[in-house]
Amino acid sequence: MGYHILKLSGSVFFSTAVLLWLSMRPASSEEMIHIDRFISPEVCAGCHSEIYEQWQNSMHHLSHKDPVYTRVAQFLRKGLTDAGEIEEAESCVKCHTPVGTLTGFPMKVSDDLSKTPEIATLGIQCDYCHSVESVTKIHNNGLVLKPGHGEDDPGVKFGPFDDAVPDYHEARYSKLHTEAEICGTCHDVKHVAFGTNLETTYTEWKNSPYHSKDPAKNIPCQGCHMYQKPGIPATGSTDRPENPGSAADGSVDRPHIFTHYFVGANSYVPGLFNDTEKAGMAVERLQHAATLSLDTSGIKDKTLSVTVANTGAGHSIPTGVADLRQVWLEITIKDKNNTTGFQMGTLNDKQELPENTIIFRVVFGDGKGNKVINLAKAREILKDNRIKAKEKVTELISLPFVPAAGSQVTVRLLYRSMDPEILKLIPGDPFEPLPVVEMAKVQAKI
Ligand code: HEC
Ligand code: HEC
Ligand code: HEC
Ligand code: HEC
Ligand code: HEC
Repeated sequence: MGYHILKLSGSVFFSTAVLLWLSMRPASSEEMIHIDRFISPEVCAGCHSEIYEQWQNSMHHLSHKDPVYTRVAQFLRKGLTDAGEIEEAESCVKCHTPVGTLTGFPMKVSDDLSKTPEIATLGIQCDYCHSVESVTKIHNNGLVLKPGHGEDDPGVKFGPFDDAVPDYHEARYSKLHTEAEICGTCHDVKHVAFGTNLETTYTEWKNSPYHSKDPAKNIPCQGCHMYQKPGIPATGSTDRPENPGSAADGSVDRPHIFTHYFVGANSYVPGLFNDTEKAGMAVERLQHAATLSLDTSGIKDKTLSVTVANTGAGHSIPTGVADLRQVWLEITIKDKNNTTGFQMGTLNDKQELPENTIIFRVVFGDGKGNKVINLAKAREILKDNRIKAKEKVTELISLPFVPAAGSQVTVRLLYRSMDPEILKLIPGDPFEPLPVVEMAKVQAKI
């Protein structure tokens, strides 16, 4: 790390080390930037105290430290021999430790991460997002940054206002910051060697009814995720009221200040950092994402029909690392005496799901039709039965018997952020059972 690129009126001087490094990697418009140019979030907190508190312990703040990510990444990297698989397994830091990768260290997962500069361990932070000037591609982090020169010369911070005149740093309106693309470039992940779509949140949104060419109808990522506050989940099925206030302590009042909690569905990791507020907000978001309906008219033919509707998410449910996430149906039938006669998708005492559970997810394959759990080996998608935005999926469940009159059928849609089958394989301290969140529930009497 520590190479400089001097740009003097159009001519560019490189050190030989930089030239060698540039020639070894795919062409891109990034420059190696010195780490001292980034300003700590603590400094921004001096004036943007409310936004700082929202961002603190968000999944963006924790993107480098998140023990689920770090342990999964180290585990997936182990024992690989194929060059393309290794390249993918090393690439995680580009999104999870972006200030580090942009400034030269860490460049790969197998670097000695204990040497990561302090500021880079703070994950996806204020001065990273607000130094973004443009984007080259809408996957695998194509952001191009123009940071200032540290605390004493903070430079321009790009944001949504065209009339902000702070006296500490310069401010400039950036259309990109108001659009889904600034999020999408990290929230769409392609295998670096095989091109397999590993995460497609942005593409799912782009193909959904929330995306519209008419700005009045378009609801970008920010339209839900940067309107959420405790008690206001701000989903597609709930109100997304404006949040009037000021962007900096004591500055002008504005009709809407975008919130920075960046809450998705992860209620486990913020809790590990004692942030019960963000954990609770993830639960609120999940509880306003989907609805269930139950049709028992086929019961005499031993059939139940369950429909899951994605009413609240601007993308599929689940999205993101959809091979690791688990969203499933739990079905229980109890007779008049409250005795369970049928169950499906019920966790056993080891927190495992039975084989026949209906799980909405993505399954990767090795290119020959065999399932792989290591995304570095993902050469194909074998299955994707997730529920798309504003769409419904109906599942027919065949029962082993006709339930007696007066029986009660209960169906629940449940979420947990990781398949414990994978966490179990990771050496070291076992993970505690991950929280299971009830997203929706429906009951009917027969
Ligand atoms: C993941 C990227 C990201 C991170 C991290 C981030 N912001 Fe933002 N911020 C945005 C976006 C995007 C907007 C504008 C949203 C829009 O207009 O749709 C914004 C808006 C703002 C604004 C304008 C007022 C408002 O909230 O509407 C300020 C000030 C701001 N951010 C400061 C900060 C500070 C301070 C931090 C760190 C504590 C931070 N941001 C972290 C992306 C980010
Ligand atoms: C000394 C106080 C102060 C500090 C420190 C500070 N800001 Fe600001 N910032 C302001 C003020 C004041 C505004 C204008 C608010 C308004 O007009 O509503 C502002 C506006 C912004 C905006 C909106 C710009 C736009 O045009 O939309 C962003 C983004 C921003 N700050 C990011 C940051 C980041 C990132 C840091 C830390 C590197 C930071 N600020 C540190 C005072 C500060
Ligand atoms: C209409 C509101 C809405 C919009 C627009 C929206 N989301 Fe979401 N998002 C949700 C809801 C509701 C959830 C919780 C359910 C779920 O996990 O899918 C969620 C969950 C998430 C998660 C966690 C997923 C998981 O299961 O781990 C991520 C990441 C995410 N959103 C990112 C984005 C990005 C990036 C965009 C824009 C490309 C976006 N969202 C647009 C409502 C929205
Ligand atoms: C530099 C890459 C990057 C950018 C830009 C980015 N994200 Fe993220 N985001 C991530 C990563 C990486 C994580 C997951 C961290 C983890 O789980 O360890 C994440 C997590 C999230 C989560 C939490 C997911 C969960 O499961 O709870 C939400 C919500 C989210 N991002 C929304 C956004 C939105 C909205 C924007 C645009 C304003 C955005 N992100 C921009 C990389 C990025
Ligand atoms: C292009 C950006 C990008 C790259 C590269 C990337 N990720 Fe992520 N990662 C994300 C985003 C965005 C999320 C949040 C999605 C969600 O919440 O479902 C995420 C979330 C995760 C999570 C979930 C963490 C949790 O707490 O549940 C794990 C695990 C993870 N990534 C592992 C990896 C590994 C391993 C690699 C490298 C092989 C990698 N990621 C590379 C963007 C990226």
